Amino acid sequence: MRIGITGTPGVGKTTVGKILSKRLNLPLYNLSKLIREERLYSSYDKERNAYEVEPEKLRKFFEGKESFIAEGLVAHYIPVDYLVILRAEPEVVRERLKERPYSQRKVEENVEAERLAVIATEAFENPNFKRVIHIDTTNRSPEEVAEIVERTVSKGEELFEEVDWLE
Ligand SMILES: Nc1ncnc2c1ncn2[C@@H]1O[C@H](COP(=O)(O)OP(=O)(O)OP(=O)(O)O)[C@@H](O)[C@H]1O
Ligand SMILES: [Mg+2]
Repeated sequence: MRIGITGTPGVGKTTVGKILSKRLNLPLYNLSKLIREERLYSSYDKERNAYEVEPEKLRKFFEGKESFIAEGLVAHYIPVDYLVILRAEPEVVRERLKERPYSQRKVEENVEAERLAVIATEAFENPNFKRVIHIDTTNRSPEEVAEIVERTVSKGEELFEEVDWLE
């Protein structure tokens, strides 16, 4: 089983990934760490203080691997059986990001990205998944989210919860 978890920063990929990895007994890859350690980047973005992923290198790393969870906002580049797209109300994303030492600008950029569904749109425009789980984490705990994902995966089903942050 190959599972990707994507979504705007602060939406809960790492938190949910850890719970799911234990429950499903699958190795967990944190993509930002992996990209750094395995040098799967093309350049370093000084302004953003982040590496620019090289999608081909990322795909190559996962080629032939059949059991894993890969979590990170570039997970949608990796061919998977399930892509989990985590969503949260922009206000909730802001609250979750406030815990971090991010600049206000960085927080607002991410809140805006969630409002406009940037990551979800990218994933659907260039689908590398067989099945999708699009889930609203707003009024749920990480455990509840992981449980819904586990249940959906074990049944071989898909899940698409509608969200609209533009109203
Ligand atoms: N239902 C939920 N699902 C996931 N995380 C939640 C939920 N409710 C609250 N949280 C909290 O939101 C925060 C999400 O942080 P986390 O580091 O998991 O996000 P992330 O998507 O991995 O961010 P980044 O892209 O920056 O790595 C955590 O503090 C987590 O406990
Ligand atoms: Mg994370």
